[in-house]
Amino acid sequence: MPATKTKIAGVEFDSYVLNASGPKDATMEELEIIGHSGSAGIMMKSCTIEPREGNEEPRSFDFADGYIQSMGLPNLGYRKYVEFAAELKKKFKKPILASVSGFSKEDYVLMVEAFQKSEADLIEVNFSCPNIKGKPQVGYDFEQSENVLASIDNLGEKPVGLKLPPYFDMSHYAQMAEIILRHKISFITSINSIGNTLIIDPEKESAVIKPNNGLGGLSGNRVKPIGLANVRTFYNLLGGKVSIVGVGGISTGTDAFEYLLAGADAVQIATTFEKEGAGCFGRINNELQEILEKKGYNSIEEVKGKLKYL
Ligand code: DHB
Repeated sequence: MPATKTKIAGVEFDSYVLNASGPKDATMEELEIIGHSGSAGIMMKSCTIEPREGNEEPRSFDFADGYIQSMGLPNLGYRKYVEFAAELKKKFKKPILASVSGFSKEDYVLMVEAFQKSEADLIEVNFSCPNIKGKPQVGYDFEQSENVLASIDNLGEKPVGLKLPPYFDMSHYAQMAEIILRHKISFITSINSIGNTLIIDPEKESAVIKPNNGLGGLSGNRVKPIGLANVRTFYNLLGGKVSIVGVGGISTGTDAFEYLLAGADAVQIATTFEKEGAGCFGRINNELQEILEKKGYNSIEEVKGKLKYL
């Protein structure tokens, strides 16, 4: 079978598929399950300075071709994930990824600094949590993005990446790409869930989740075209200087193959992991290998970014 090993920001991964920050990655028990699974790395839940319970329940809803949630960053606080990174590093031979979600520039500085000194291999800076009342998604505020990045550029040598919200307008892509290229960003993870969407149960005549009057982040199969467009557009704008991790609606090897054509160096899985469990990582990677073999490709590199235009 063709190898699917890859690199994100120079860090080696044994396969193309790992977990995304979000589902089932907040406790040590959950992280150990990811460690034992086929996931190529262990990504931890986005953390905040202090532990959080998160939003009121019901705060997530699973439906046929998607998922909506407004979790509100339930997590154990960043100190715990610094400890977990060291424990996981000892137990598993795969890269450890930290995700930080600040409420201020100072929060980001404190947490990035802490993970720079930790056993984590990569640091994902979350600019796209849509579920905190009164807090805009940083990635939609270009001035604030610039500000935060200027303050975390020189905190250490570990690769820092950005988890981006989906963009829909070429001028926004261009502005964010310029900001990324001005700073020490080694990878982007694109896309986060589409923020502030609404799913209605017509029988009950009701929203399906409680927080924010039913508004929540949409993920799963329905968001794949948006994820592909974001990966492709950033692939074109960033000119190979920044690794790209694709996320959004990947449930099969074919989905992963499409992200590879669009230009992703690796993919992360959230909704399918939530729905199917930890077997999904190995399954999707195996399916991708079968597709590569059938098409006569021997490596990820041969296909990466090779999308044809009509
Ligand atoms: C949450 C949701 C997100 O999409 C994210 O990036 C971070 C946190 C949440 O509500 O917990």
